[in-house]
Amino acid sequence: MLNIAIMGFGTVGSGIAEVISGSYALVKSRLGDDINIKRILDLRDFPDSPYANRVTHDFNDILNDDSISVVAETMGGVGAAYKYTKALLEAGKHVVTSNKELVAAHGVELLRIADKRGVRYLYEGSVGGGIPLIRPITESLAHDDITEITGILNGTTNFILTQMASGFSFDEALREAQRLGYAEADPTADVDGHDACRKICILAAVAFGVLIPSDEVSCRGIRGLTLDHINAAAEKNRAVRLIARARRLPNGKIEAEVAPFEVVMTSPLHSVEGVFNGVLLHGTMTGDVMFYGRGAGSLPTASAVVADIIDCGSQNGCSKKQRLWEDGTGLYVLPEDGSVAGLGDRIEL
Ligand code: HSE
Repeated sequence: MLNIAIMGFGTVGSGIAEVISGSYALVKSRLGDDINIKRILDLRDFPDSPYANRVTHDFNDILNDDSISVVAETMGGVGAAYKYTKALLEAGKHVVTSNKELVAAHGVELLRIADKRGVRYLYEGSVGGGIPLIRPITESLAHDDITEITGILNGTTNFILTQMASGFSFDEALREAQRLGYAEADPTADVDGHDACRKICILAAVAFGVLIPSDEVSCRGIRGLTLDHINAAAEKNRAVRLIARARRLPNGKIEAEVAPFEVVMTSPLHSVEGVFNGVLLHGTMTGDVMFYGRGAGSLPTASAVVADIIDCGSQNGCSKKQRLWEDGTGLYVLPEDGSVAGLGDRIEL
């Protein structure tokens, strides 16, 4: 029996329970064992939930329970989530997460602790919602030298931009994104581009092996964009998209930015609409590769976390060696060119 715990029973955390119960037979067969959600840590109680009797408010109930070997951290933030993740890894438990803020801020350190303790810190759910990205980059493209990543990495802003193109106001579209469980608790992280910025830093770290500090990266969101921008782009057969991109330069420096772009119709990112994310990679051997799928929402993101739980809980997965990241402080450079061949033009507000 694989006993797991979930820390944070919000949109993603409750989605994990739903994915496990809804796909129980498949999860069991992939895992080669039964799975049991033994504890759920949250500040709230959930009296109407079938998991009500597993809820605890005390982290030590998870940390000190030797039967729990895998913990899903879906609390978000870098406060308690950081402290708890560190303690769990040091105690020899695997941790899987959808917390991009934490991975982008402390990934170098947390991966090292996991490595030292012989456990895994997996973060497939932190980027691209339900799109398998981290595992394909680290495993299927392990042989390739990835030089460039360009993507739509925030479902909320892409949903807002798509709704605005159909005539809805920014506020109406944001409210709907919040209702559908796409937006962060504080949606300014979505709207101002910080969420996409953390995600591009994580993807760059996965692809280039170096984590650049996300607060150094030039980051502009969609605040200030109006229907005029969207209509002006449409007149040129272009679509406004919030683009996150990173490129490894031959001198080892890393160029990156998040900004709204007028995307040309021939780009595969032009047709990425609604909550969907799209990510284009360029590998020296493979050439261009595109990933596409739902970038936010309870079940897609929870699915990515559950895949990581299965990986940690299965015999083959739990002993796999993870690639560590170097600290990329000082390696960041601002992209000079706002006009990108095959993609379009940065919108300067
Ligand atoms: N708020 C995020 C988004 C959730 O809209 O993409 C998924 O990381």
